[in-house]
Amino acid sequence: MNYSAIVLAAGDGKRMRSSKPKVMCEVLGDPMIDWVLDSIDGAGIPAENTGVVVGNGADTVKAFLAKKGSYRTFMQTERKGTGHAVMQAAEMLKAGENVLILCGDAPFVDSGTITAALTEHVHGGNDVTVVTADMPDPASYGRIRRDEDGAFIGIVEKKDCTLSQLGITEVNSGVYWFRAEALADALPKLTDDNAAGEFYLTDTVGIIRANGGKLGTYTAGDTNIVMGANSRAELMQLNIIAKMQVIAKHLDEGVEFVSTDGIIIGRNVEIGQDTLILPGTILRGNTVIGENCTIGPNSLIENCRIGNGVTLNNVQAYDSRVCDRVKAGPFVQLRPGTILHDGVKIGDFVEVKNSEIGVNTAISHLTYVGDSDVGKGVNFGCGCVTANYDGINKYRTKIGDYAFIGCNTNLIAPVEIGENATTAAGSTITRTVPADSLAVERSQTKIIENWEKNFRRIRKA
Ligand code: UD1
Ligand code: CA
Repeated sequence: MNYSAIVLAAGDGKRMRSSKPKVMCEVLGDPMIDWVLDSIDGAGIPAENTGVVVGNGADTVKAFLAKKGSYRTFMQTERKGTGHAVMQAAEMLKAGENVLILCGDAPFVDSGTITAALTEHVHGGNDVTVVTADMPDPASYGRIRRDEDGAFIGIVEKKDCTLSQLGITEVNSGVYWFRAEALADALPKLTDDNAAGEFYLTDTVGIIRANGGKLGTYTAGDTNIVMGANSRAELMQLNIIAKMQVIAKHLDEGVEFVSTDGIIIGRNVEIGQDTLILPGTILRGNTVIGENCTIGPNSLIENCRIGNGVTLNNVQAYDSRVCDRVKAGPFVQLRPGTILHDGVKIGDFVEVKNSEIGVNTAISHLTYVGDSDVGKGVNFGCGCVTANYDGINKYRTKIGDYAFIGCNTNLIAPVEIGENATTAAGSTITRTVPADSLAVERSQTKIIENWEKNFRRIRKA
């Protein structure tokens, strides 16, 4: 493999004021480093060729990386700057002819920019190619230095800028392609003789030039790709930008939004045409929503597959599957492992967990269904409960097609209700109810006549 990548992710993130490592701070529900790694992968550099420099919160970052792929990690025990961070991963420079370096705290770099910059780098025969952008407000980004002829000669950090350099609006994105050998030669020559007392990776550019190397830049079409988050305010700004970009993409694909209020959609979520997303809706993870649905208001859907023509109003759903024409809400929770088949109706204050609910079954109000296999056309009255847990183990409840579960039925699992069977309201069912039968478990009503009269007499006395 000709290419490798190094992601810098050891920074303290002091300005973020978080106990989390900075690169784990989230944009649209995914850690910033996740965005960066996906772009590297999209550019065709596999995990095996990607090294991540970790330091602050290394265990958290490593645990995340281990779940994502077979990334190599390098420990930077002290934070001595971006150049020092790359030195820790020097081994990666042997992995390929050219190496991509980027920061784990700038999530918007995309595969297109990475590959276009590489093309420039290779065609130009460059030793280093820096991805730059024109920013009307160059803020704290490193400034791109050019000579009178406009030739790129180096990068100067904001802290080290002269007054006139501060006005430069062409900035360093923190994304670079290096010829690995040129970088390996430059790294040992870095010093920490600067305003921050750090070994700046950006100084390698000047060193490569002094060594007679060839410098190049690639100007990003979209200035947003440069944006990094060093503080909470910047992180929120990234979230706002990403949110609008994701919504714009869905608008183009025929999804309807009447407003963007409180709507947050993860970057990997898919939504079908003519689906309406109402305010207060958060869609996360690997969620796929079909066509002609109405989702929201105030719903949170995470890692779910939702069919067509579904209505979810004030629903929280996690790791579940909802088939066509299901109506759920308001105030419904679908916990992991739930499958709602076509035409299921779930009403207010209902929780379903780890259960399969058959076609056209209705669970209309105030009911808990957990660890259950429910057939089609079943009707649950108000306030039914599957008692699935005896304090030690969990057990399943089975309900046959077209059964009728009366109001306030307790189903003490393991228990089975046959097809077309009925349980009487208020019954606590502890054993199998055969098909077509009625189960009543209630004590008989006892009437004490004139009780109230006697009570009043006693109270008076
Ligand atoms: C850096 C660049 C700046 C560029 C900007 C783009 C340098 C000196 N400056 O500045 O020119 O405009 O990125 O976003 O490179 N890190 C380590 N170990 C360290 C220090 C940093 O791993 O010792 C990591 C951080 O986790 C972060 C990345 O390197 O992901 C960049 O570090 P940061 O301190 O944020 O640099 P900037 O000041 O943003
Ligand atoms: Ca930064």
